[in-house]
Amino acid sequence: MRMLLMIVLASLLPAVVDAGPSPDLGAHCMAALLAKQAGRPDAAVSELHAALDIDPNYLEAHWILAWVLHDRGQKSAAIAEFAQVARIDDGGTYGRDAQKTIDRLTAPPPPPPPPAAGRALVALTFDDGPDPNLTPKLLDLLRARGVKATFFMLGPLVKRYPAIVKRIADEGHEVAVHAWDHRLLTGMSAAGVRSQMDRTRDAIAAACGVTPRVMRPPYGGHNAMVRNTVGMPVILWDVDPNDWRDRNSGTVRRRIANGMRPGSIVLMHDIHATTVAAVPGILDDAAAKGLTPVTVSDLIGGAKAGSVWTRVKPRD
Ligand code: NI
Repeated sequence: MRMLLMIVLASLLPAVVDAGPSPDLGAHCMAALLAKQAGRPDAAVSELHAALDIDPNYLEAHWILAWVLHDRGQKSAAIAEFAQVARIDDGGTYGRDAQKTIDRLTAPPPPPPPPAAGRALVALTFDDGPDPNLTPKLLDLLRARGVKATFFMLGPLVKRYPAIVKRIADEGHEVAVHAWDHRLLTGMSAAGVRSQMDRTRDAIAAACGVTPRVMRPPYGGHNAMVRNTVGMPVILWDVDPNDWRDRNSGTVRRRIANGMRPGSIVLMHDIHATTVAAVPGILDDAAAKGLTPVTVSDLIGGAKAGSVWTRVKPRD
């Protein structure tokens, strides 16, 4: 009797599924919403995938998943989910909202603000990274202000933190070569210098897909052999706040404010918390002086390999 009942139930099951959504679908979506509100997006995503395993066309699950991915900054994955919503609910409220959101997310970014009049440009540069904690913090600060900077990086750190290197490039900053390690290049053979440059440049290109165009020798040390060997413009600086020695954000900010003028190249290190903390104030000071931060390559223009730059003198 019991066996018969099970057979009857089993034969009914597909009809039940066809007749309406499984109660598990609602439960997964509810759990996903609670996880999203609790700030646990990973848990929300796995609940939503469980719902979509039951019904790949479940509108609510795609809709919530789209927003979870959107809030996590996974733009292309979110767009794919909004596209599912637009397809499933074509012409409906959700479908129209999803299409509007896709249009907003795929719109071209607004043009960058025009450079300040004349050549009131300045290059903010950060050496010796990337740092796993401080460089992402710095990138957040720069992104919030729409400012581009240049990062002179060390090979082993590039190899260890390729995702940060990729983020630097993806967010429009300039990736640049410091050296493989931090040894003075002037004491090496030309082959040694070439190897330092090639290995670091290749590591950066492998991490982010962009080949660096400029380099900065460790300690600023260069001679004719170094200049003839590096194969890139040599970028020094005219403003040095000694941020590695004096770990005080106020001191770093004041020294930069005092030294920074049109065409300046400002030396900093994104491996010191005090320097990163000084950056919002430094950006305020630059704006107050009418200086627009740009990347080193944007500041120096098409410069020759081996040319040495401390500051770009304004031409007008
Ligand atoms: Ni350095």
